[in-house]
Amino acid sequence: MPVSGQIIVLVGLMGSGKSRIGKELAKLLKLPFVDADREIERAAAYTVSEIFERFGEKEFRRGEKEVMLRLLSGGAKILASGGGAFIQPEIKALIKQKAISVWLKASLDTLVKRTSHTGHRPLLQVGNPAERLQQLMEDRYPIYAEADITVVTDRQTPQDMARLIKIELDRLKQDKEIDS
Ligand code: S3P
Repeated sequence: MPVSGQIIVLVGLMGSGKSRIGKELAKLLKLPFVDADREIERAAAYTVSEIFERFGEKEFRRGEKEVMLRLLSGGAKILASGGGAFIQPEIKALIKQKAISVWLKASLDTLVKRTSHTGHRPLLQVGNPAERLQQLMEDRYPIYAEADITVVTDRQTPQDMARLIKIELDRLKQDKEIDS
């Protein structure tokens, strides 16, 4: 993990607040904010839903990897990743090497509430989205737990979450300085 760690990647499930909190954190740290899903859409000239529909999840994951590798080789930024990005081993390895990762850990209740009013998430277009989210939690939480920092997000505002993450980032930096 780089000590100055100028690329900060937010990881976590759909509805954990990666984009909303990411924007606040970017303001607080005076860094540009980049949303990986929007970059994938821009590169493909299709929405995420259209990519899934027309080309399938495998092709989406291929595009996601390409875009994440590009963003991770660029300059300082707050990067909101798509929920599946950290799950791809190659992306996770590069995040570990080039960035500081922050897992926004949320309860099932929170995730269900925050995703229930939006129809743009292909993985949740199923009969029982709560069950799907529960399954994704079981599959993915052990992997998200490998992030450098974990913060629990449930009822706090994005501004409060951004302040909390800044405190954790400063603490991590201090620990690194003590180690070296
Ligand atoms: C996905 C999460 C989505 C998007 C795609 C797949 C996932 O991003 O990348 O629908 O696998 O969890 P958000 O987490 O920003 O909703």
